[in-house]
Amino acid sequence: MKPLSVVSERLSQDQSDQSKKCPIIAIDGPAGSGKSITAYLLAKKLNYLYLDTGAMYRALTLKAIKNKVNTYDAQAMADLVGQTKISLKIGSTQGTRVFIDGKEVSSEIRSPLVSRYVSQVSTIKEVREYLVSLQRKIGSKGEVVAEGRDIGTVVFPEATVKIFLTANLEERINRRWRQLREKVGSLSRREIEANLRQRDLIDSQREISPLKKAPQAITVDNTRLNISQTVEKIRQIVQKALWKTGYSSEK
Ligand code: DC
Repeated sequence: MKPLSVVSERLSQDQSDQSKKCPIIAIDGPAGSGKSITAYLLAKKLNYLYLDTGAMYRALTLKAIKNKVNTYDAQAMADLVGQTKISLKIGSTQGTRVFIDGKEVSSEIRSPLVSRYVSQVSTIKEVREYLVSLQRKIGSKGEVVAEGRDIGTVVFPEATVKIFLTANLEERINRRWRQLREKVGSLSRREIEANLRQRDLIDSQREISPLKKAPQAITVDNTRLNISQTVEKIRQIVQKALWKTGYSSEK
C-alpha cells in the first residue's frame, strides 16, 4: 500500500504526464456491496493507492451535523465546503484515516447518524465539484484503486478497469448488521434495511452523477462470495486488463 508521503508527492507533481499510462481501477456499487474492504485489499495486493471517496462525503456530512448546518440547504452546504479542509491518510492496518480541518474523524464518519444524512449531502452540486476535484488530484497519477458511486462514470471515466460490485439487498443488510452489531448505539435490522433502501434510492436517482454502471464496467455480483473470493475475482479481471495494456502488475 502506498504511504501518505506518496499521496502528498502526487499532489505536488505535474499531473499531466503519466496519467494515461498508469492504471486506475474504479470500483462502484451500492452501499453494503463490500466495495471498501475489497478495494482496500486489492490496493494492498497491487501496492496501489486506495482511495475511499465515500469517506470524503461522510467527513463533510459529519462537519455539517456538528456545526448544525442544514444539510438540505445547498447554499449553506456550499459555504461549508469553502471553509473545510478534508485530508486522507492511508495506513497499512487501519484502512483510510480521515481528517477534517486537521482533526481525525475516522470512526465518527461511520456512525448511523452520518449514514442517515450522507446520501442527501452527496446530491449537492458544490459538494460534488469540490470532492471530485480532490479525488482527481489524488488519483490522477494512476496506480490507484478508487471506490465510490461515480468513479467509472465521472471521476475517472478513463479508468483502466471498471468494476460494478453488487450484491442482493438481503445480503447487504446482513453484512451491515454484522458490521454494526458490536457497536454502541447500533441499529436494528429493520433500521439498517430502511437506511440501505433510502440510500440506494437517493444515490441512484439523484440528478448529478447518480450511481450507475459505467458502459464498459464489468459487473461482479458477490452475493455468494466472501471477501477473499471477491478480491481474487477482481484481481484476475485487473491482471488480465493490465496484461492487455502491457502494464506489469508485479511489484
Ligand atoms: O461508500 P459509502 O457508503 O461510505 O458512501 C457514503 C455516501 O457517499 C453514499 O451513500 C453516497 C455518497 N458517495 C457518492 O455520492 N459518490 C461517491 N463517489 C462516494 C460516495
